[in-house]
Amino acid sequence: MSKAKTIYSCQECGATSPKWLGKCPDCGSWNTFVEEIFVGVATPTSRANALEAPSIGAVGSIEGKRASSGVSSFDRILGGGLVPGSIILVGGDPGIGKSTLLTEVAGKVAEQGSRALYISGEESASQIKLRAERLGAIHDGFMLASTNDLSEALCYISGSTPDLVIIDSIQTIGSEDLDSATGSVSQVRHCATALHAVAKSGDAAVILVGHVTKDGAIAGPKVLEHLVDTVLYFEGEGHGRLRALRATKNRFGATNEIALFEMSETGLHPVENPSGALLAERMADAPGSAVFPAIEGTRPLLVEVQALVTPNYTNNPRRTVTGVDYNRAMLVLSVIEKRGGLRLGSHDVFINVVGGLQIREPAADLAIFLAVVSSHKDVPLPSDLVAFGEIGLTGEIRSVSAAELRLSEAARMGFKRAAVSQNLKKSQSVQGMKLGAFRSVSDALGLFS
Ligand code: TYD
Ligand code: MG
Repeated sequence: MSKAKTIYSCQECGATSPKWLGKCPDCGSWNTFVEEIFVGVATPTSRANALEAPSIGAVGSIEGKRASSGVSSFDRILGGGLVPGSIILVGGDPGIGKSTLLTEVAGKVAEQGSRALYISGEESASQIKLRAERLGAIHDGFMLASTNDLSEALCYISGSTPDLVIIDSIQTIGSEDLDSATGSVSQVRHCATALHAVAKSGDAAVILVGHVTKDGAIAGPKVLEHLVDTVLYFEGEGHGRLRALRATKNRFGATNEIALFEMSETGLHPVENPSGALLAERMADAPGSAVFPAIEGTRPLLVEVQALVTPNYTNNPRRTVTGVDYNRAMLVLSVIEKRGGLRLGSHDVFINVVGGLQIREPAADLAIFLAVVSSHKDVPLPSDLVAFGEIGLTGEIRSVSAAELRLSEAARMGFKRAAVSQNLKKSQSVQGMKLGAFRSVSDALGLFS
């Protein structure tokens, strides 16, 4: 039995309520509730036959089924290639390169003899063709359709028998069956489900492009993220040349795996040596710069953490943090005051990770600490030094995972010294690196004397 009823749903987070609400109790947004018709789901009453689930060994594996997208770094962050029947969301700011990357992927898939269907709700077919020509992506199996209508898109999918379907973007496809506007949470959810169902029945993989709202979330994020198998997110400054694509959710591989691309006249090209590219413009002898060997997914990556500490002449010192977690940065600043004995109350503090990367690891604490102190004291850190370690509230420096991997990447890039937690001292010289092992942040201040 199913019956239709009216519900109200938040266009921001997807929360529902039987009554209209001014403020969403879940996400706190104002004026986001919109009336929708909810078609109830039929409940199973009885089954004629009992079902026996198969033993785990008898369940088929997906590994043999993965297909290469033809773009090796894209395959890598997916966990080894496109899984037929899976659904992937690619998010990122406007102009960051979503359409560019996916046009390249469609071209490479077609070049390998498979069929890729690119459905655009934003650009006309001739606009996409123009881009595809520039990217060298014109191949027979690359099929193009331009529509904003869900049923038309579904017809294209069932009629074109693709191996890969790209929807650019999910917010520009709408169904006439729903009253709400194209791009609303219910439309996005409905269209994504319908597109996936049709693609899956033909064993095609689906890539949805998702727009990003002003505050950096994919529009209708909760709804889409739960629905898809994999979420890939473009990081980076739109105006810079480097773009990082990160897997934030992956049912078929590791999360946080990152691929670095460079935007050029001829499209997005994978960066062969990511650490080298990120450190290329570093001024090694400048105060306020520290190098942090990060682990992104399974791979190490050297990033430069920069800090600028300047006197503030008002009563309201500024704290501007980009690229690292704001709360962690504030914790590090408090530790600097309390355990390091430096006064930052009358100073503005700016912290930035070069290249627009988002570093979420607490292992970055020590590098943040050293960059801030270095700027405050106006004394540069040794140019061949990397630093990693988590800082605790009592000022202790804690050891972190994958130390060897971090050290070997630093050694590969020509660094000679590492500031680390004391617990690492056992392994003395790893890969020819000299370790300065510190128990606490007050010990680490010795680097400046
Ligand atoms: P685009 O991929 O359309 O971004 P999105 O789909 O994420 O909104 O375009 C990204 C930007 O890159 C755009 O400003 C034009 C530029 N660009 C290049 O520099 N080289 C190229 O080969 C292409 C296709 C685009
Ligand atoms: Mg686009």
